[in-house]
Amino acid sequence: MTEQEKSRLAFFRDNVLRMSGYQSGEQPRGDKTIKLNTNENPYPCSPSVLQAIRSVEAESLRKYPDASASAFCSVAAQNLGVDSDWILCGNGSDEILSMVTRAFVAPGQRVRWPFPSYVLYSVLVDIQDGSREMIDFAPDWSLSEDFYRDADSLGLVFLANPNSPSGTVLSQEKIMELVERVDCPVLVDEAYADFSGTSCVELVARNERLLVSRTLSKSHSLAGLRFGYLVAQPQIIEQLVKIKDSYNCDAVSIAGATAAMTDQAWLEQNLEKVRSTREKMIAQLESLGFEVTPSSANFVWCKHCDRSSREIYEYLKSRQLLVRYMQFDHWGDGLRITVGTDDQLDALVTLLESMLKRS
Ligand SMILES: Cc1ncc(COP(=O)(O)O)c(C=O)c1O
Repeated sequence: MTEQEKSRLAFFRDNVLRMSGYQSGEQPRGDKTIKLNTNENPYPCSPSVLQAIRSVEAESLRKYPDASASAFCSVAAQNLGVDSDWILCGNGSDEILSMVTRAFVAPGQRVRWPFPSYVLYSVLVDIQDGSREMIDFAPDWSLSEDFYRDADSLGLVFLANPNSPSGTVLSQEKIMELVERVDCPVLVDEAYADFSGTSCVELVARNERLLVSRTLSKSHSLAGLRFGYLVAQPQIIEQLVKIKDSYNCDAVSIAGATAAMTDQAWLEQNLEKVRSTREKMIAQLESLGFEVTPSSANFVWCKHCDRSSREIYEYLKSRQLLVRYMQFDHWGDGLRITVGTDDQLDALVTLLESMLKRS
C-alpha cells in the first residue's frame, strides 16, 4: 500500500490495514468444473431439507426469525444428549469461531493453534489485534509438548479435529489433557468430525473451558445454507449470546437445518458413501506414487513422490478439475483433495495417470 493510500485510510484501525483477509477456495460458476477444492459434500442434501425450505410461509418471512433457533436447538440437543441451552447457532461455524474469538481475545492477548491448520484462525485473531501463537505439529501430526504448556495472556486455543489440511485426529484423552493444562477456553473445531466417527461433545460436561463447534456444511451437504452451532456449558452460552447478532440465522436456514438434523438416517448413508470413496481414493493415489496422510475427514492431504504439487494442481486445473494447492510458511506445500463421488474419483485418477505417464 502506498503512503498516500495509507494516509487516506487512516481512520481504519492499524491492525485492519496490516492484516490480509481470508482467501477462500476458487468457486467457478460454471457446472463443468469438478470441484474437489473446498471440502463440499458431492451429494445433494436430504430431500426433507428442501421440503422444509419450500414449506416456509410468507408469514414467517415477514417477521423476524426465532433469535435462538430453538427448533434446531431442541433436535440437536436430543441427538447429542445435552440440553437445548448448551447450544448456540451461527451463520456457518465460521460465525461461531468469530463470536468465540470476539468474546475471549482482547488486543495483545495470545491465541494458540497448531500449524498448519485452518487459515481463518489467523484472520480472526488479526481482527481482534490479538497475538498469534502457532505451534508446529510434530511430523506425525500429533501435538508437541509445547502445545500443552500454559502461558501468561493465553486467551484461547483453537484445535481443528479432524485437522485441515491433514485430515488427522487427536484422541479425546489428548484433548482433555490440553483442556486441563491450559487456563483458557479450548475451541475444538469439529467441522469434519462426522466423517471421523469421534467427537468431543460428550466431554463438554466435564470442563466448562471445552467448547465444540460443528457445521452442517460438510456432512449434511449444506455449505450453501450457512448453518453451524456451538456446544458448551450453559453459563458459557449465556455470555456468548450477548455478543451475537440478534437474528444471525434466518428463517429459511433454521427450517432447513432443523430438517437436516432430524434426518439422521440420511446422514448415516451419506457418511458411509464418503468414507468408502475416501478409502478407494487413498489406495489409488498411493498406487500412483502419492504419499497420502491417513485421513478421518472428507478430504486427503497428499504429495507426489517426484512431481511438484503446484505442477499437478495446474495440470488438473487446466483440465477443469480443481483441487486445493496449499503452501504453508516453513512447512512446505501439498495438495488437499476433497472426496467426491466415485465418478469424480475416476476422472481424477484418469487425469493423473495421463499426466504422470508423460515424462
Ligand atoms: C476446519 C474448518 N472449520 C470451520 C470451517 C467453516 O465451515 P462453515 O463456516 O461452512 O460452517 C471450515 C470450512 O471449510 C473448516 O475447514
